[in-house]
Amino acid sequence: MADQKKLTTQEILALARKKASGGESVPETVAESTSAGTTPADTTPATESPAEEPAKTEAAKPATAPKSTADILAAARAQMAAKSADTGESTAKPTSTADILAAARAQKAGAAATPAASAPKSTADILAAARAAKAAPAADKSAAAEKSPVIKKTPVADLGDKPAIKDMVAAVKQSQSGGSPPKLPVKPVAAQPKLPPKKVTSRRRFLEALAVVAITPFALGWAAVGGIGTLWTLGMARFMMPNMVLELPSQFKVGLPSEFPPGVVSEKYKASRGVWVVNSDEYGGKSILYALLSICTHLGCTPNWLSGEQKFKCPCHGSGFYITGINFEGPAPRPLERVGLRISEDGSLEVDKSLKFQEELGQWSDPKSFVEIV
Ligand code: FES
Repeated sequence: MADQKKLTTQEILALARKKASGGESVPETVAESTSAGTTPADTTPATESPAEEPAKTEAAKPATAPKSTADILAAARAQMAAKSADTGESTAKPTSTADILAAARAQKAGAAATPAASAPKSTADILAAARAAKAAPAADKSAAAEKSPVIKKTPVADLGDKPAIKDMVAAVKQSQSGGSPPKLPVKPVAAQPKLPPKKVTSRRRFLEALAVVAITPFALGWAAVGGIGTLWTLGMARFMMPNMVLELPSQFKVGLPSEFPPGVVSEKYKASRGVWVVNSDEYGGKSILYALLSICTHLGCTPNWLSGEQKFKCPCHGSGFYITGINFEGPAPRPLERVGLRISEDGSLEVDKSLKFQEELGQWSDPKSFVEIV
């Protein structure tokens, strides 16, 4: 055996093909060279033919891994041949080394591989398989949800402040029992205290003071201009008006002569007209009516008529005058003055203050200075 020549790959292949086709038996050298460490030949039954023995020997030793391409090829061909011999099918002969290698690898991988029909063959198939796998748990979950009891939560109304825990528990229990949730009590909102008015900031005070300082001279100037204009307008209005004395008329009626009894001094027109109307018979022995000015001849004060003393008394310096108007005490230098008096057309007495009569000048004898009572 040692002197036998080592076969080449081509020779081994040729022999294997021949063997597979039922030709000559493989020489022992070939069998030995291709089946190192295989099952011993004596384990093979004696009834088997010598042609099938090498093939079965080859098929029975797949546990030992071939070490070269030639060994792999030989083993594959031997397995294929053995398989065809067992099943009785006519297997197509591998025509090339590539076919033989592909068949051997497919056979080797076939033992543990999944059936080709179940494996995804394209990207679309892979995606469809992934989606199906993803949808499956969701469907399972929904089915499980339908089976499991669901506790419905009743929304609790917004109650503003947080209610007490026991109230919330009561509400949940009532909602679970089918009733409507009770309205929880609302905490009363405390009245907001009235805030004091905002204090004026110092900045605001400063701005106000600045505005006053800046505006005051301007305002004062315009106020002065306005005042001057007003005064000028009033002066012009007065200039346009005529000069006239706003006094009562000097002639006025005081009433009928019968309204003035004898010995009585009437002060009815003293305040308004400044005259006394007197009915007396003491001057000249005749009963006459006359009118006296209520002006003291000393310094012009207004004397008072004292009916108890039957005299006019000046309060300024104490001058005294009789009912006739003649001065008799005090500093008054002369008697009181008379004014004109007459009977008007309607029979009433009419006083004329534009006419004055003095006793020291003898003017009291003038008929215009008195009215004689008949
Ligand atoms: Fe009448 Fe002097 S004013 S007494």
